[in-house]
Amino acid sequence: MNVPGPRVRIFDTSLRDGEQSPGFTMSSAQKITFAHALADLGVDVIEAGFPNSSPADFRAVQTIAREVRATTIAALARCHPGDIEACARALDGAASPRIHAFISTSPLHRRFKLNMSREQVIEHAHRGVTLARTHVDDVEFSAEDAFRTEREFLVEVFNVAVAAGATTLNVPDTVGYATPDEIRALFQYLRANVKDADGVVFSAHCHNDLGLAVANSLAAIEGGARQVECTINGIGERAGNAALEELVMALKVRGGWFGVETGIDTPKLLETSRLLSRITGNQVQRNKAIVGLNAFAHESGIHQHGMLKNRDTYEIMHPRDVGWPDSQLVLGRHSGRAAVVNRLRALGFVLDDAKLDQLIADAKALTHTQHVVSDADLLRLVTGNPDDAGWRIDSMSLIDEGQHTRAHVALSNPDNHTVKRDAQGDGPIAALFAALAKATGVDFELESYEVHSMGTGRDARGEANLSARIGGESFSGQGTSRDVLEASAIAWLDVANRLLRSHAMQRIPAFA
Ligand code: KIV
Ligand code: ZN
Repeated sequence: MNVPGPRVRIFDTSLRDGEQSPGFTMSSAQKITFAHALADLGVDVIEAGFPNSSPADFRAVQTIAREVRATTIAALARCHPGDIEACARALDGAASPRIHAFISTSPLHRRFKLNMSREQVIEHAHRGVTLARTHVDDVEFSAEDAFRTEREFLVEVFNVAVAAGATTLNVPDTVGYATPDEIRALFQYLRANVKDADGVVFSAHCHNDLGLAVANSLAAIEGGARQVECTINGIGERAGNAALEELVMALKVRGGWFGVETGIDTPKLLETSRLLSRITGNQVQRNKAIVGLNAFAHESGIHQHGMLKNRDTYEIMHPRDVGWPDSQLVLGRHSGRAAVVNRLRALGFVLDDAKLDQLIADAKALTHTQHVVSDADLLRLVTGNPDDAGWRIDSMSLIDEGQHTRAHVALSNPDNHTVKRDAQGDGPIAALFAALAKATGVDFELESYEVHSMGTGRDARGEANLSARIGGESFSGQGTSRDVLEASAIAWLDVANRLLRSHAMQRIPAFA
């Protein structure tokens, strides 16, 4: 048995396993847009869908197969002639088509899902792969619930699939039950026992029910897997699949340990993650590895001090390597003097000790009412420019107009005059933000928008957090209210006010 080569293929299934999970459905047009982004990112295989599941999925796979030429396009099929023929038709004309045929192999699935004997499963696998090979040269065979399948039976099924012409053998941990040591050992066993193991690629497909999908995929690679199936942001059935961005960066950052490489253009990871969030309307959590807002943000004084001396103290990769412009030293309640001095220096100020003490005290006071002290806040404190209260809400109302919602807002502007505007949107939030943009004359694209409820019953309040990236700077805003829509409007105005202040400051020549 040879040691497999150092290249690990990245098989992305965001458009199939990811898309089939609740809350992540995409239209055909969205799937096509995302397929182009995956190709630009450099994935080796895009699993574009399950053509026999719906006419829309068929059309999406067909269009992706015709438009995306530099990447292998896979389509999923049960080992049923109808599914396989649908894949073949949808992939017709693809530059590099793959049919991915699967059948469940575990005792539980054989008995309760398929009602089939071992022999029948083997027969279906054989027929499915054989038929797929009459259409394409590249056939992947998956043994669904492989991890909970008897090992010797798994070898038997895989031997049949290889004899019928499968070129990739996929080993799904369908229910996310494995641990890293077990899955490493399973891959070693399969590579030692499947006939012609050196002539096929072993693939891992790990689900995240115990939060182990990435760890298990890495262990599978140690055991000899040379394809990993994953999704952007870890989307997928239930708790999701292995997150592509985490897997790829683990292989890159710990290259010395794993000794393998991928073809992923890692600086495109963040934009690909953001695109998926925009398409599906699901933001990643703030503390998500690689692509979460906090992934390269530091607030505590001790960490900021370390970062200012040497970034390696608290970062194991450069943010630019995954698409962030830079790390962020966030000035908040936990920040220390060193970070404030550093931020001021970047803004062109060197203060004497007394002024600095006063400024730090003022900045800390600000954190009682806002989470983060922005550059605009610092400038305002340094220049002594008395804070204008900015734009404030006097009243707001929303009217359901059937297909659309109309929002009316009355705001007080910084000069204390009232401005009233209304706007239409697809839903209440879109209408509200459009009306606020009209009234203030400020517009921006949101980077993130989250609403949480705090407390319960009569004390319940909504908290909205927004952020927008404008001209390389991040502006975040927060609002709380009994009404989540009002909380959202306050948060939106918080961002707008910060943005206006920062632009006003930039116009002061000494600070330009
Ligand atoms: O999780 C799973 O077993 C699957 C297969 C269809 C590959 O998604
Ligand atoms: Zn799956």
